[in-house]
Amino acid sequence: VNSLKSLYGQVDSLPSKVSNINGWIKSVRLLKKVAFIDIQDGTILKELKIVVPFDSQSNLSSEVATFLKSLRTGQSIAIKDAKLVETEGREQRFELNITDPIDNISIIGNVSESYPLQKKYHSLPYLRTLPTLKHRTSYLGSLLRFRSELEYNMATFFKLNQFTKASPPILTGSDCEGAGELFRVEANGYVEKKQHYFGKPTYLTVSLQLQLEILAMAFSRAWSLSPCFRAEESDTNRHLSEFWMMEAEWCFTKDTKELTTFVKDMIQYITRESYKNFDDFIPKNIPENCLPRNELLERWETLLRDESWNTITYTEAIEILQKRDKEVPFPNYRPIWGEALQSEHERWLSESYFKGPTFVTDYPRDCKAFYMKLNPDGQTVACFDLLVPGIGEIVGGSIREDNFELLSKEVSRRQMNKNGELDWYLSLRKEGSVPHGGFGLGLERFVSYLYGNHNIRDAIPFYRAASGNID
Ligand code: 4AD
Ligand code: MG
Repeated sequence: VNSLKSLYGQVDSLPSKVSNINGWIKSVRLLKKVAFIDIQDGTILKELKIVVPFDSQSNLSSEVATFLKSLRTGQSIAIKDAKLVETEGREQRFELNITDPIDNISIIGNVSESYPLQKKYHSLPYLRTLPTLKHRTSYLGSLLRFRSELEYNMATFFKLNQFTKASPPILTGSDCEGAGELFRVEANGYVEKKQHYFGKPTYLTVSLQLQLEILAMAFSRAWSLSPCFRAEESDTNRHLSEFWMMEAEWCFTKDTKELTTFVKDMIQYITRESYKNFDDFIPKNIPENCLPRNELLERWETLLRDESWNTITYTEAIEILQKRDKEVPFPNYRPIWGEALQSEHERWLSESYFKGPTFVTDYPRDCKAFYMKLNPDGQTVACFDLLVPGIGEIVGGSIREDNFELLSKEVSRRQMNKNGELDWYLSLRKEGSVPHGGFGLGLERFVSYLYGNHNIRDAIPFYRAASGNID
């Protein structure tokens, strides 16, 4: 069986005949002398055109006519023994010619009369109401193929940099970020008994970082790619309740600059590799609100130029946002030092002020999680967020506090670890502790940034979000 991807991948000698191709019908057109059937098989964005000579006038062909008229968008079909013809100058390099459709085409699975994915524009909000079918559309199908490609490139990057991939657990007793956005897990039978299945409250993880630090202490460099869960109150096009986070943690690093350089190199590597197959992934027709192809290319090219990347401290970001300048569009609300940046501020900084990816470093410690290393100024921590145009924050990372006394003090100051749930984490600082750091990248935000889709709900096959339905 040939896949369309393998067929389109053949560079020099095309076979003159193909014996077996399977796919789904995208559209059927019956003209006076010819019928065109476009199929896709999901291995590649491209479709394949099947050309059937068809004399609609001739009564000889009535059986053929009845057969061709029974073909519908959405049906799955198998094609055997078709002639492959090169089509110079057309969009597709070749098409299939079929002379005996009844013999050469067989319908594998029919579709209902109400099959909704007809050959016309469907908006993304509408497609989101079709979770069982939407992935068959060019834009959404391609988006997930792109995500898959990106994951392969990501894995290669880490392999090239001597990282070991490891998978910490999803069920956990600790709240890594300390933000209380936890989903609690209860075992049904135990709820009635008023007991905890694991003997203590258990949650779905918000981040694998704490356990990844254990593994980094064994491998020097460790990374993971895993679902994370947050009971977010924010219900925006950038928030999911279940999302995937790529996390990396490595030892013997002391300097935020080393982390941000690594993140830039990683993003550039993945972008460059994924960029190679631009036309295989980015359809000609882009849905409403999503980035048009030319702007997407611009975004990618910007990313690949080192000069487009910016780094400022949080304190500098506040100074910029505080300017009573007409260009700063927040007349009513400008953050003062010590306050978190709001997503509008973050977006504006990277999108309008710097017009490129922007690292903001050294936030006040109370804006950030407990594990970050305190800077010598005693007020800020050695951390960074990466802000990008169109999305806002896609990466967060820091140097970790590796000193047992300082970390214990911070944990107590925040009234964490009341039941000793962080004892294991603190104990790491007593056994061959080393300076180390790492970061987490939201996969759906990253994919959406590189693909240009407007809502990260489309960058995951089945989204779970505050206002989403559970099916
Ligand atoms: O900034 P966050 O909360 O950082 C951490 O969890 C660290 N423990 C990671 C680490 O250092 N190992 O989350 C990291 C990234 C964010 O920058 C964002 O891209 C993504 O995870 N993220 C979300 N993506 C989609 N929906 C949500 N609700 C998200 N929350 C965070
Ligand atoms: Mg963050």
